[in-house]
This record gives sequence, structure tokens and C-alpha cells, in this order.
Amino acid sequence: MQNDLPLQPTQPFAEPGGALAALETTRVALMHGFGAIHEHILSQGTQSEVLRRELQAAQAQVADLGANCNHHEVDVAQLRLELQKRDFDLEQEGARLVEAQRAQAQAREENADFNARLAQAGRALEVAHAHSTDLSGQVFDLNAQIEFLSAHKENLEAHKEHLESKVADSGAHIEHLQGQVEQLHDHKSDLEAKVAQLHEKNVDMHRELVGLYADLRGEGLPELVLKLAAGLTGAESGLFTQADGDGTLAQLHVSQMEEMLVSALYDYSRRAADAEQPLVENDAKKLPDGAGLVNLAALPVAAKGRKRGVLLLCNKRGGPFTEDDTRLLLAIGQHAGLAMENARLHDELSEAYAATIAVLADAIQAKDAYTRGHCEGVSSMAVEVARRLELSDEQLEQVRYAALLHDVGKIGIPDGILLKPSKLMPEEFSIIQKHPQIGRDIVARVSALSALSEVILHHHEKWDGSGYPAGLAGEGIPLLARIVCAVDAFDAMTTPRPYRTAVDGAQAVEEMRRCAGTQFDPRIVELVADIVCTA
Ligand SMILES: [Fe+2]
Ligand SMILES: [Fe+2]
Repeated sequence: MQNDLPLQPTQPFAEPGGALAALETTRVALMHGFGAIHEHILSQGTQSEVLRRELQAAQAQVADLGANCNHHEVDVAQLRLELQKRDFDLEQEGARLVEAQRAQAQAREENADFNARLAQAGRALEVAHAHSTDLSGQVFDLNAQIEFLSAHKENLEAHKEHLESKVADSGAHIEHLQGQVEQLHDHKSDLEAKVAQLHEKNVDMHRELVGLYADLRGEGLPELVLKLAAGLTGAESGLFTQADGDGTLAQLHVSQMEEMLVSALYDYSRRAADAEQPLVENDAKKLPDGAGLVNLAALPVAAKGRKRGVLLLCNKRGGPFTEDDTRLLLAIGQHAGLAMENARLHDELSEAYAATIAVLADAIQAKDAYTRGHCEGVSSMAVEVARRLELSDEQLEQVRYAALLHDVGKIGIPDGILLKPSKLMPEEFSIIQKHPQIGRDIVARVSALSALSEVILHHHEKWDGSGYPAGLAGEGIPLLARIVCAVDAFDAMTTPRPYRTAVDGAQAVEEMRRCAGTQFDPRIVELVADIVCTA
């Protein structure tokens, strides 16, 4: 008997649950078949053995099916693992899908940004295009300029070649000039050395000239000039022949010279004066014999168109008289001439000064008979006091003239008051007291007398400050004014006046000592006393 039931699956199960169910159904059907077969064996008897073998075969098939079933269970387990694996892969795939979507979104954003940049680049490209158009125009212009410059360059190169040829010519000229420059440099060095020497001489001369001008009175001036000129030129001796007022050479001033030589050289001085220019002789053979002369230089000295004399130097040590010596001596001669002219002017000024003072003094004395002789007396004694105080010559001169003029202001006092025989009323005395200011104003207008004005103004100040016009006291009163004040009082006391008799010198000194420290400077009072005692 053939069994129609499927003993094994003909195709893979769609899913593991379904396959098991199908196997279970098959197994139940087979068990049912086994029961029927058994009944058939029993009923059939003879066929039992066959059936029994078919049953054994069927049982073998069941055993195979059971093995297959186990095998399929393993497959199911493997399929489940495979399914789990696929689920895991699916999850991973999903995650990759999400990541891909996110990347896609990002790519979209980047794409949008890229598009924006692309648009911006497009606009920039348009601008660049416009700029390119402008540049093209500029390039065109530049090309035109380049053409022009190229042409100019060619001209310059031609000019350069021309100049290079000139430079080549100049090179030779420069070399020639450099040779000349070197020669000039050497010459300059020589000149600088000479200038340095002259500068030293000039400094020496200036130093000597300071002393020379200081001696404005002209006393010893020729000797100073000789000493200066001989020292600066190196001459051994010299002769200064001074001219008289009419230009005649007369006075001789000799420096280290024999008498015989002086007379021999006088003729050279006269010749230089007549020629009015320097006379230099460096040839000893042309000079007088027997005088030991080697060389000489004679230079006329003049100032303001007047001949002042001749400066002659001889026997210069170390060589002949040079042009530099001549120039130096001319300079010395000019200064000497000016110094002599200054001395002459100073003498004239002093004479005029003295004459002016004499005229003013005479004017006072002509107006006031009682002051006649008074001013001279005050002046001589004031000079004696000043000399005992060891004052300078200039101060002696000032006090001499200030004393002569101390009452010059009385010229401005009305005769009715000045010549009043009786004692003065207070208001009259106040007018008399104005004579110091009047006298100061008179002398201040004469510049040569202005130095006397302070002495005249303060000759009635008193040591204790009770005098007039300023009320000065002690050493605040100018020293020369204190001298005039004391001597004036002494002379007044020893001179008779209409309203009182005179006292003798001893009585006057006694009175002055009584007033020393109040009216008079005590030291000056004692000097007046000494003068009176020694008179
Ligand atoms: Fe006076
Ligand atoms: Fe007086």
C-alpha cells in the first residue's frame, strides 16, 4: 500500500511557525495511518508481514522525519538569529538613513550658501568686468605714454652720450684743477702760518696800544711807540723824531742808540717825512759806514692831515725788514698819531675846562666882593685835605674845581639879599639856601663839569643830617662835599664879614672841633687842624 501523505517539505517554509504546524499535522496523520494498518494486518492476516515491513519502513521514515524536524528546528533557530541580525542591520541601516538625511539637509544648506556665494561672485565678476573695461582704457593711455616715454628715452640716451663725452673732457680738466687746488692748499697753509704770526703780533700790539692810549697826555708816548715797534719787529734800536706844531722835525726820542748813529739817521727821518711814505733800506752797503748799521725802516707818522713825526727802526735781528714789518709799523704809526692827536685835544680840552671854571669863578667874585679870594682859598685848602686823604689825581682835580665853583649858584641870588650888609631875615636865608641847587644846575649843563655837580649840591649838608638841601648825614654825604663844607666854614670864619670880624686859624679850628660829629666830618676837621698847625 502506497501512502499519499507528504513525508517531507517540498519547498522552504514561508516562516518557521508554519513549517512546524505542517510537520505536526503530518505526524498525526501518520499515527492515524499506523492504527489503520494494524487493524488491516489483523484483518488481513496474510499480509501482515508485508505490512509489518511497510510499517517498519514508515517508522524509519518517521524517524527520518523526526530527524528532519530537529534539523528544521536548528534551521528555525538559525533563521531567528538571522532575523535578529537583519533587525540589527535594519536599525543600523535606519541610523545610516537618518545620518544620510541630515547630511542631505546640510548639503542643501551648503548648496544654498554656495548659491549665495555664487551670486555674490557673479556680482563681483560684473564689477571686475567693469573695472577691467576701465583698466583697458588706462592700459591704452599707458601704452600711449610708454610710446611717448620711449621716444623721450631715446632723446635722453642721446643727450646722455653727449654729456658722457663732456664728462670725459671735464675729467681731464678736473685733474688739472685738482693739481691747482693742491698748490693753493699748500699756499693756504703758508698763509695761515703767516696769519697766525700776524695775529700774535696783533695781540701784542693791541696790548701795548692799550697802554699807549692810556697815556693821553702824550708824556712818554714816543718812548712807548719806540718800545712797541722795536719789540714787534725785532729791531735792536730806534728813533722817534717828533714834529713841532708847524710840522718841523725837532724833538728826538732815542731807544738804545749811540749819539753818532742818531745824527746819521736823522737824515733818513727827514727824507721819509718829506716823501710822506715809508723808507726801507736792507742793503748795509748803502747805509752810513762806521755806525754798525745793517738795515733800517723809517715811517712818517701823521694824524688828521698833520705831521706828527717819523718812526725809525734799525738793525732788525734775523733778516731784512719785510712788507709785513712795514704794514705793522704803519699801523703802529697810525695809532701813535691818533694818540698824539688825542693828547693834543685833551690838553686843549683841559685848558678850555680850566678857562670855563675861571670865568665862572670870576663871575661870582665880580658879583660878591666878599667871595673874592674866598673860592681860591677854599680850593687850595680842599686840595691839601684831599691829598692828605691820599685821594686819586682825578679826585684832587675834581675837588679843586668843585671848591672853586661851590658858590657859583649865588649868581642866581638877588643882589639885595646876597649883598645885604645886615643879618638876613629867615625868608632871605631860605633864598640864600637855594644856591647849591642853582650851582648844581649850572654845572650840570656843561658836560665837562657835570662830575662836580654832586659836590656843589651837597656842600652845605651837615654830618648829623641837619644841613641842606637833602639832609644827608655821615658818610651818606659825598666825601668831596664834606671836604668843601669843612674848608668853606674854616675860610668863612677866618674871613671878615660886614656883620662880624674874622677869627684866627686856631680859634676857627677850636670852633670846628666843637662842631665835629654834628656839623663836620671829624676826620676832616683834624686834617684841617693839621694844615693850620703846619702853615
Ligand atoms: Fe655855599
Ligand atoms: Fe662858601
